[in-house]
Amino acid sequence: MKIVIIGGTGLIGSKLANKLRQLGHEVIAAAPNTGVNTITGEGLAEALVGADTVVDVANSPSFEDKAVLEFFETSGRNLLAAEAKAGVKHHVALSVVGSDRLPDSGYLRAKMAQERLIKQSGIPYTILRSTQFFEFAAAIAQSATIGQMVHMPPALVQPIASDDVITVLAEISIAAPLNGTVEIGGPERLPFNEWIRHFLELTGDSREVITDIHAHYFGTELNDQSLVPGENPHIGKIKYDDWFSTQPMKAQSQH
Ligand SMILES: NC(=O)c1ccc[n+]([C@@H]2O[C@H](COP(=O)([O-])OP(=O)(O)OC[C@H]3O[C@@H](n4cnc5c(N)ncnc54)[C@H](OP(=O)(O)O)[C@@H]3O)[C@@H](O)[C@H]2O)c1
Repeated sequence: MKIVIIGGTGLIGSKLANKLRQLGHEVIAAAPNTGVNTITGEGLAEALVGADTVVDVANSPSFEDKAVLEFFETSGRNLLAAEAKAGVKHHVALSVVGSDRLPDSGYLRAKMAQERLIKQSGIPYTILRSTQFFEFAAAIAQSATIGQMVHMPPALVQPIASDDVITVLAEISIAAPLNGTVEIGGPERLPFNEWIRHFLELTGDSREVITDIHAHYFGTELNDQSLVPGENPHIGKIKYDDWFSTQPMKAQSQH
């Protein structure tokens, strides 16, 4: 199959490209630095010639409310229009568990806008909603930091290794479209504040986690249902501490 990965140079995209190539597929890793830009349209039509499937794992350069909404709306419109012209048979996208429950988050509103465009496009699709990647802990801690304090809610989370997401995303990419949404989460469920405190301890980071039920996560308050998958999700195999022990020290803390 010919598979175009939009955001094919990112965390998920680059590993997915490797995996699908290993399985013998023709893969185009599309991104601005490989000459394909879904905002300007540059290189898009050329990349999609003869493509069976498009996997959209692009992300917005800015998470600011207006900018991120503009990114996913413009990118989604341009991409889906180009796919319709090229006769693409399956559109796969990676979204976030809880997007539909958290309208106060500008980022998750933008992911919902992306999902709506896909459902309205008429192109057969599969949406995979994932929980937070293990790799995202540093950015989460950073976004919740005020001075030396990291303000975290105790709401339950079920974080996942990106490698586990990629395994399922690869399976979805070469299967028939579901015209529906499936979820994936990690093997362990724990309070958000405990995960981030554990991450900081493991990385020798001196910041202190303050537990606050009103602390915002990307613009929204959370409860125990907000970020955990519903019924029958895919469950990743890799546990956090096992994953952490395989990570190079430098990549672990961005603080
Ligand atoms: N982080 C999480 O915990 C989490 C959880 C669930 C779902 N997700 C979703 O997973 C997806 C992938 O995340 P990630 O962490 O792998 O992202 P990432 O590492 O930030 O990579 C983003 C990719 O998007 C590309 N891109 C940016 N602007 C583009 C444009 N105008 N046209 C085409 N490509 C463009 C980037 O290319 P350049 O490098 O050239 O800019 C890069 O290849 C996102 O959609 C996110 O919403 C994330």
